[in-house]
Amino acid sequence: VALPTLNIIGCGRVGQTLAHLWQAHGIYAVQDVVTRSAASAQAACAFIGGGTPVSQYQAMRPADVWLLGVPDMQLAHAAAALAMTQTVAQPEGTVPVIFHCSGALGADVLTPLTALGWQTASAHCILSFASAALAVAQFPGTPCALEGNPSACKQLHSTFTRIGAQCFNVASADKLLYHAAAVFATNFLPVLQAVAEDAWRATGVPETLIPGLRSSLLHNAVANVLQLGPQGALTGPAARGDTGAIARQAQVVSAWDQAAGAAYTALSTLALRLKQTPTD
Ligand SMILES: NC(=O)c1ccc[n+]([C@@H]2O[C@H](COP(=O)([O-])OP(=O)(O)OC[C@H]3O[C@@H](n4cnc5c(N)ncnc54)[C@H](OP(=O)(O)O)[C@@H]3O)[C@@H](O)[C@H]2O)c1
Repeated sequence: VALPTLNIIGCGRVGQTLAHLWQAHGIYAVQDVVTRSAASAQAACAFIGGGTPVSQYQAMRPADVWLLGVPDMQLAHAAAALAMTQTVAQPEGTVPVIFHCSGALGADVLTPLTALGWQTASAHCILSFASAALAVAQFPGTPCALEGNPSACKQLHSTFTRIGAQCFNVASADKLLYHAAAVFATNFLPVLQAVAEDAWRATGVPETLIPGLRSSLLHNAVANVLQLGPQGALTGPAARGDTGAIARQAQVVSAWDQAAGAAYTALSTLALRLKQTPTD
Protein backbone atom coordinates (compact mmCIF):
# COMPACT_ATOMS: atom_id res chain seq x y z
CA VAL A 1 0.00 0.00 0.00
CA ALA A 2 1.37 3.46 -0.92
CA LEU A 3 2.14 5.66 2.08
CA PRO A 4 0.33 9.00 2.40
CA THR A 5 2.46 11.77 0.88
CA LEU A 6 3.82 14.73 2.87
CA ASN A 7 4.80 18.09 1.33
CA ILE A 8 6.79 20.54 3.42
CA ILE A 9 7.03 24.32 3.15
CA GLY A 10 9.68 25.62 5.56
CA CYS A 11 11.84 22.76 6.67
CA GLY A 12 14.12 23.88 9.49
CA ARG A 13 14.63 22.30 12.88
CA VAL A 14 11.02 21.19 13.45
CA GLY A 15 10.21 20.23 9.85
CA GLN A 16 13.36 18.13 9.46
CA THR A 17 12.89 16.41 12.80
CA LEU A 18 9.30 15.35 12.14
CA ALA A 19 9.91 14.44 8.50
CA HIS A 20 12.98 12.37 9.38
CA LEU A 21 11.03 10.43 11.99
CA TRP A 22 7.99 9.87 9.75
CA GLN A 23 10.18 8.82 6.83
CA ALA A 24 12.22 6.44 9.01
CA HIS A 25 9.09 4.86 10.52
CA GLY A 26 7.39 4.49 7.11
CA ILE A 27 4.44 6.65 8.15
CA TYR A 28 4.51 9.37 5.48
CA ALA A 29 6.43 9.42 2.21
CA VAL A 30 8.13 12.82 2.12
CA GLN A 31 7.49 14.30 -1.31
CA ASP A 32 8.28 17.97 -2.16
CA VAL A 33 10.23 20.33 0.10
CA VAL A 34 10.39 24.13 -0.27
CA THR A 35 12.53 26.43 1.87
CA ARG A 36 14.01 29.87 1.15
CA SER A 37 17.10 28.59 -0.65
CA ALA A 38 17.86 25.65 -2.91
CA ALA A 39 20.82 24.73 -0.71
CA SER A 40 18.79 24.48 2.50
CA ALA A 41 16.03 22.47 0.79
CA GLN A 42 18.71 20.10 -0.49
CA ALA A 43 20.26 19.79 2.96
CA ALA A 44 16.83 19.22 4.52
CA CYS A 45 16.08 16.35 2.12
CA ALA A 46 19.50 14.82 2.83
CA PHE A 47 18.79 14.92 6.57
CA ILE A 48 15.27 13.52 6.11
CA GLY A 49 16.51 10.73 3.87
CA GLY A 50 13.83 11.47 1.29
CA GLY A 51 11.90 14.18 -0.52
CA THR A 52 12.62 16.33 -3.54
CA PRO A 53 13.92 19.89 -3.12
CA VAL A 54 11.65 22.24 -5.06
CA SER A 55 12.17 25.96 -5.56
CA GLN A 56 8.59 27.23 -5.93
CA TYR A 57 5.18 26.52 -4.44
CA GLN A 58 3.78 26.21 -7.99
CA ALA A 59 6.02 23.22 -8.66
CA MET A 60 4.78 21.21 -5.65
CA ARG A 61 2.73 18.15 -6.50
CA PRO A 62 -0.62 17.44 -4.75
CA ALA A 63 -0.07 15.69 -1.42
CA ASP A 64 -2.19 14.10 1.31
CA VAL A 65 -0.60 16.14 4.09
CA TRP A 66 1.20 19.51 4.11
CA LEU A 67 3.49 20.71 6.89
CA LEU A 68 3.94 24.47 7.04
CA GLY A 69 7.15 24.73 9.04
CA VAL A 70 8.05 28.37 8.41
CA PRO A 71 8.62 30.74 11.37
CA ASP A 72 5.42 32.04 13.02
CA MET A 73 5.74 35.49 11.43
CA GLN A 74 5.74 33.90 7.96
CA LEU A 75 2.76 31.56 8.46
CA ALA A 76 -0.08 33.82 7.28
CA HIS A 77 1.88 34.94 4.24
CA ALA A 78 2.93 31.38 3.32
CA ALA A 79 -0.65 30.08 3.70
CA ALA A 80 -1.99 32.84 1.45
CA ALA A 81 0.79 32.31 -1.10
CA LEU A 82 0.19 28.56 -1.17
CA ALA A 83 -3.58 29.03 -1.59
CA MET A 84 -2.92 31.29 -4.60
CA THR A 85 -1.06 28.45 -6.33
CA GLN A 86 -3.79 25.85 -5.77
CA THR A 87 -5.62 26.37 -9.03
CA VAL A 88 -5.67 22.69 -9.99
CA ALA A 89 -8.49 20.70 -8.34
CA GLN A 90 -7.41 18.02 -5.86
CA PRO A 91 -7.76 14.42 -7.07
CA GLU A 92 -11.33 13.14 -6.64
CA GLY A 93 -12.23 12.13 -3.09
CA THR A 94 -9.12 13.61 -1.45
CA VAL A 95 -9.06 16.42 1.08
CA PRO A 96 -5.56 17.57 1.95
CA VAL A 97 -4.62 18.16 5.59
CA ILE A 98 -2.36 21.15 6.29
CA PHE A 99 -0.89 21.94 9.68
CA HIS A 100 1.67 24.21 11.28
CA CYS A 101 3.69 23.74 14.48
CA SER A 102 3.33 27.08 16.24
CA GLY A 103 2.39 27.12 19.91
CA ALA A 104 1.10 30.69 19.86
CA LEU A 105 -1.04 30.57 16.71
CA GLY A 106 -4.13 28.51 15.92
CA ALA A 107 -5.21 26.70 12.78
CA ASP A 108 -7.15 29.83 11.80
CA VAL A 109 -3.95 31.35 10.42
CA LEU A 110 -4.36 28.79 7.61
CA THR A 111 -7.83 30.12 6.66
CA PRO A 112 -6.96 30.69 2.96
CA LEU A 113 -6.62 26.89 2.66
CA THR A 114 -9.84 26.22 4.60
CA ALA A 115 -11.58 28.30 1.96
CA LEU A 116 -10.34 25.75 -0.62
CA GLY A 117 -11.82 22.88 1.40
CA TRP A 118 -8.54 21.76 3.03
CA GLN A 119 -8.53 20.57 6.63
CA THR A 120 -6.38 22.82 8.81
CA ALA A 121 -4.74 22.11 12.16
CA SER A 122 -1.83 23.01 14.41
CA ALA A 123 0.45 20.56 16.18
CA HIS A 124 2.68 22.07 18.86
CA CYS A 125 5.39 19.78 20.22
CA ILE A 126 6.64 20.94 23.63
CA LEU A 127 10.35 20.39 23.03
CA SER A 128 13.20 22.80 22.44
CA PHE A 129 14.31 21.88 18.91
CA ALA A 130 17.90 23.16 19.20
CA SER A 131 18.99 21.14 16.17
CA ALA A 132 17.17 18.50 14.13
CA ALA A 133 19.83 15.87 14.89
CA LEU A 134 19.44 16.37 18.65
CA ALA A 135 15.64 16.64 18.48
CA VAL A 136 15.28 13.35 16.58
CA ALA A 137 16.89 11.57 19.54
CA GLN A 138 15.02 13.62 22.15
CA PHE A 139 11.58 13.42 20.50
CA PRO A 140 10.08 10.22 22.00
CA GLY A 141 7.77 11.15 24.90
CA THR A 142 7.34 14.77 23.79
CA PRO A 143 3.88 16.17 24.64
CA CYS A 144 2.14 17.44 21.51
CA ALA A 145 -0.90 19.77 21.51
CA LEU A 146 -3.28 19.27 18.59
CA GLU A 147 -5.82 21.91 17.61
CA GLY A 148 -8.07 22.57 14.64
CA ASN A 149 -10.22 20.45 12.31
CA PRO A 150 -11.26 17.30 14.27
CA SER A 151 -10.64 14.92 11.40
CA ALA A 152 -7.17 16.42 10.73
CA CYS A 153 -6.39 16.21 14.46
CA LYS A 154 -7.43 12.56 14.48
CA GLN A 155 -5.01 11.74 11.68
CA LEU A 156 -2.19 13.77 13.26
CA HIS A 157 -2.88 12.15 16.63
CA SER A 158 -2.16 8.80 15.03
CA THR A 159 0.91 9.83 13.03
CA PHE A 160 2.50 11.85 15.87
CA THR A 161 1.81 9.07 18.38
CA ARG A 162 3.54 6.56 16.11
CA ILE A 163 6.80 8.58 16.30
CA GLY A 164 6.59 8.72 20.10
CA ALA A 165 4.66 11.93 20.84
CA GLN A 166 2.16 12.10 23.70
CA CYS A 167 -0.74 13.84 21.95
CA PHE A 168 -3.59 15.76 23.52
CA ASN A 169 -6.25 18.09 22.11
CA VAL A 170 -6.52 21.81 22.81
CA ALA A 171 -9.72 23.67 21.84
CA SER A 172 -9.10 26.48 19.36
CA ALA A 173 -10.50 28.99 21.86
CA ASP A 174 -7.93 27.80 24.43
CA LYS A 175 -4.83 27.91 22.23
CA LEU A 176 -3.64 31.35 23.39
CA LEU A 177 -4.13 30.52 27.06
CA TYR A 178 -2.39 27.18 26.51
CA HIS A 179 0.61 29.00 25.08
CA ALA A 180 0.58 31.66 27.80
CA ALA A 181 0.96 28.81 30.30
CA ALA A 182 4.36 28.00 28.82
CA VAL A 183 5.30 31.66 29.11
CA PHE A 184 4.49 31.46 32.83
CA ALA A 185 6.30 28.13 33.16
CA THR A 186 9.57 29.20 31.57
CA ASN A 187 9.79 32.67 30.05
CA PHE A 188 9.02 34.66 33.21
CA LEU A 189 11.66 32.94 35.33
CA PRO A 190 14.59 34.93 33.86
CA VAL A 191 12.49 38.11 34.08
CA LEU A 192 11.89 37.61 37.81
CA GLN A 193 15.56 36.85 38.33
CA ALA A 194 16.61 40.03 36.51
CA VAL A 195 14.26 42.17 38.63
CA ALA A 196 15.60 40.59 41.82
CA GLU A 197 19.21 41.21 40.80
CA ASP A 198 18.49 44.85 39.88
CA ALA A 199 16.81 45.39 43.25
CA TRP A 200 19.78 43.82 45.06
CA ARG A 201 22.18 46.12 43.18
CA ALA A 202 19.95 49.14 43.91
CA THR A 203 20.17 48.34 47.63
CA GLY A 204 23.93 47.88 47.71
CA VAL A 205 24.30 44.10 47.65
CA PRO A 206 27.90 43.55 46.46
CA GLU A 207 28.12 42.54 42.80
CA THR A 208 30.46 39.69 43.71
CA LEU A 209 27.74 38.04 45.81
CA ILE A 210 25.05 38.11 43.12
CA PRO A 211 26.12 34.99 41.11
CA GLY A 212 26.08 32.94 44.31
CA LEU A 213 22.67 34.29 45.31
CA ARG A 214 21.34 33.51 41.85
CA SER A 215 22.61 29.97 41.97
CA SER A 216 21.60 29.03 45.50
CA LEU A 217 18.10 30.58 45.42
CA LEU A 218 17.22 29.21 42.00
CA HIS A 219 18.52 25.73 42.81
CA ASN A 220 16.64 25.66 46.11
CA ALA A 221 13.41 26.91 44.54
CA VAL A 222 13.54 24.36 41.72
CA ALA A 223 14.37 21.51 44.10
CA ASN A 224 11.51 22.51 46.42
CA VAL A 225 8.94 22.81 43.60
CA LEU A 226 9.99 19.43 42.18
CA GLN A 227 9.80 17.76 45.57
CA LEU A 228 6.85 19.52 47.18
CA GLY A 229 4.81 20.94 44.27
CA PRO A 230 4.11 24.68 43.81
CA GLN A 231 1.94 25.06 46.90
CA GLY A 232 4.24 23.15 49.24
CA ALA A 233 7.24 25.12 48.01
CA LEU A 234 5.66 28.53 48.63
CA THR A 235 7.61 30.67 51.12
CA GLY A 236 7.76 34.38 51.94
CA PRO A 237 5.15 36.85 53.23
CA ALA A 238 2.25 35.29 51.24
CA ALA A 239 2.99 31.84 52.69
CA ARG A 240 2.77 33.42 56.17
CA GLY A 241 -0.41 35.30 55.21
CA ASP A 242 1.34 38.56 56.13
CA THR A 243 -0.76 40.96 54.04
CA GLY A 244 0.66 43.96 55.94
CA ALA A 245 4.22 43.14 54.85
CA ILE A 246 3.02 42.56 51.29
CA ALA A 247 1.34 45.98 51.15
CA ARG A 248 4.41 47.79 52.58
CA GLN A 249 6.78 46.02 50.17
CA ALA A 250 4.49 46.66 47.18
CA GLN A 251 4.68 50.37 47.97
CA VAL A 252 8.49 50.54 48.04
CA VAL A 253 8.88 48.35 44.97
CA SER A 254 6.47 50.63 43.06
CA ALA A 255 8.39 53.71 44.16
CA TRP A 256 11.59 52.07 42.89
CA ASP A 257 10.13 50.73 39.62
CA GLN A 258 6.46 51.07 38.73
CA ALA A 259 6.24 47.96 36.50
CA ALA A 260 8.06 45.84 39.09
CA GLY A 261 5.62 47.15 41.72
CA ALA A 262 2.61 46.13 39.61
CA ALA A 263 4.16 42.68 39.11
CA TYR A 264 4.86 42.38 42.84
CA THR A 265 1.21 43.15 43.66
CA ALA A 266 -0.21 40.80 40.99
CA LEU A 267 2.12 37.93 41.95
CA SER A 268 1.36 38.45 45.67
CA THR A 269 -2.37 38.12 44.91
CA LEU A 270 -1.64 34.83 43.13
CA ALA A 271 0.66 33.70 45.95
CA LEU A 272 -2.05 34.35 48.59
CA ARG A 273 -4.54 32.43 46.44
CA LEU A 274 -2.09 29.54 46.08
CA LYS A 275 -1.58 29.42 49.85
CA GLN A 276 -5.36 29.29 50.39
CA THR A 277 -6.09 26.64 47.74
CA PRO A 278 -7.42 23.57 49.55
CA THR A 279 -5.30 20.45 49.15
CA ASP A 280 -6.86 17.01 48.88
N1 LIG B 1 12.45 25.50 17.44
C1 LIG B 1 11.66 25.13 18.43
O1 LIG B 1 12.12 24.82 19.54
C2 LIG B 1 10.16 25.04 18.22
C3 LIG B 1 9.40 24.33 19.18
C4 LIG B 1 8.04 24.16 18.98
C5 LIG B 1 7.43 24.75 17.88
N2 LIG B 1 8.18 25.47 16.97
C6 LIG B 1 7.48 26.04 15.80
O2 LIG B 1 7.86 25.34 14.63
C7 LIG B 1 7.81 26.23 13.50
C8 LIG B 1 9.13 26.19 12.77
O3 LIG B 1 10.17 26.58 13.66
P1 LIG B 1 11.68 26.11 13.44
O4 LIG B 1 12.37 26.33 14.76
O5 LIG B 1 11.73 24.78 12.79
O6 LIG B 1 12.19 27.23 12.40
P2 LIG B 1 13.58 27.28 11.63
O7 LIG B 1 14.51 26.24 12.13
O8 LIG B 1 13.99 28.72 11.64
O9 LIG B 1 13.17 26.88 10.13
C9 LIG B 1 12.31 27.68 9.37
C10 LIG B 1 12.26 27.13 7.95
O10 LIG B 1 11.34 27.92 7.21
C11 LIG B 1 11.99 28.33 6.00
N3 LIG B 1 11.35 29.58 5.58
C12 LIG B 1 11.38 30.80 6.18
N4 LIG B 1 10.61 31.65 5.50
C13 LIG B 1 10.09 30.95 4.45
C14 LIG B 1 9.23 31.28 3.38
N5 LIG B 1 8.73 32.51 3.27
N6 LIG B 1 8.91 30.29 2.49
C15 LIG B 1 9.40 29.04 2.60
N7 LIG B 1 10.21 28.67 3.61
C16 LIG B 1 10.55 29.62 4.50
C17 LIG B 1 13.45 28.42 6.31
O11 LIG B 1 14.16 28.35 5.11
P3 LIG B 1 15.78 28.34 5.06
O12 LIG B 1 16.17 26.99 5.60
O13 LIG B 1 16.11 28.47 3.61
O14 LIG B 1 16.22 29.48 5.91
C18 LIG B 1 13.59 27.17 7.21
O15 LIG B 1 13.70 26.01 6.41
C19 LIG B 1 7.42 27.60 14.05
O16 LIG B 1 6.02 27.75 13.93
C20 LIG B 1 7.80 27.50 15.52
O17 LIG B 1 7.02 28.35 16.35
C21 LIG B 1 9.53 25.62 17.11
